[in-house]
Order: sequence, then structure tokens, then C-alpha cells
Amino acid sequence: MPTELTINGTSHTVDLPDDVPLLWVLRDEVGLTGTKFGCGVAACGACTVHIDGQAVRSCQVALGDVWGEVTTIEGLGTPDALHALQEAWVEHQVAQCGYCQSGQIMQAASLLAQTPTPTDADIDGAMQGNLCRCGTYPRIRAAIKTAAQKMEG
Ligand code: FES
Ligand code: FES
Repeated sequence: MPTELTINGTSHTVDLPDDVPLLWVLRDEVGLTGTKFGCGVAACGACTVHIDGQAVRSCQVALGDVWGEVTTIEGLGTPDALHALQEAWVEHQVAQCGYCQSGQIMQAASLLAQTPTPTDADIDGAMQGNLCRCGTYPRIRAAIKTAAQKMEG
């Protein structure tokens, strides 16, 4: 039976089996390829999106289990109004190869929504499941702090 999904504020009807991972739906069915496939086993964070504002690993959420509105990196900001994290990412030139970065930003956005002024320990705790093979961790932490300041101001 087709499933109705709201993704980045737009309704989509998806005619796929209930056990298809949300990541596949986003990339292959809806064409939102900003969300990346890294490991497929909840071990890297590259596939992180939000469901009702909560960061989830989309490789591990079955289509039939999606419980709310999905937001991907494409829906976090707009070209005219980037999210504060996206601005901070540019300011700090965080990305290296870039592969992990949409997942990093989505995880960080969920952190800042819950903890607007995170400590280093808060950042480390929230971000520990998001791996970066290029080692951009110091710039990620700096960008999260910059974004937190922008959002506070
Ligand atoms: S692809 Fe989902 S956590 Fe790695
Ligand atoms: S920027 Fe290359 S994996 Fe993170």
C-alpha cells in the first residue's frame, strides 16, 4: 500500500515495501541525494536526517516506521536563508571531502534544538556517532559553537 510521507514540507506518495530503509526512499525514490550512504548499519552517521526534529539514522528506519515529518539537509535551510550551522560550516571551511558533512550538520542541528549553548562535552556526546574519515572534528566543534552564538544572538 502506498505510504504518504512529508519530506521538507512537501507531501510524497511512495509505493515501496514497508521494510525499505528511509535512506533508500530519500535518495533513490525522491532524489534527495544530500543524505549519504556510509555503512548501512548505524555505525557512521552519514545518513542522518530528522524525523519530527529528532536526529535518526535513515539507514535504520524502515519506511513503514516513519512516525513524523522528515527533514533532510536539503530542507534545513534555503539558498536565501541558510541555517546558522550551514553559515558556520562555510565560515570555518569545515568540509574536506564532504561525504560525512550533511549527516554531521543534521546531527548538530538536532543538538542545538535541544541544547542551545552546548559545552564541549555536550558536543562530543551528541556527535560521537558521526564519523569523519578526514578528521574534521576540531572544525566541526568550532562551527557548532559559532552557530550556537549566532542563534543565541
Ligand atoms: S549509513 Fe546509516 S549510520 Fe552509516
Ligand atoms: S569530510 Fe571527508 S569524511 Fe568527513
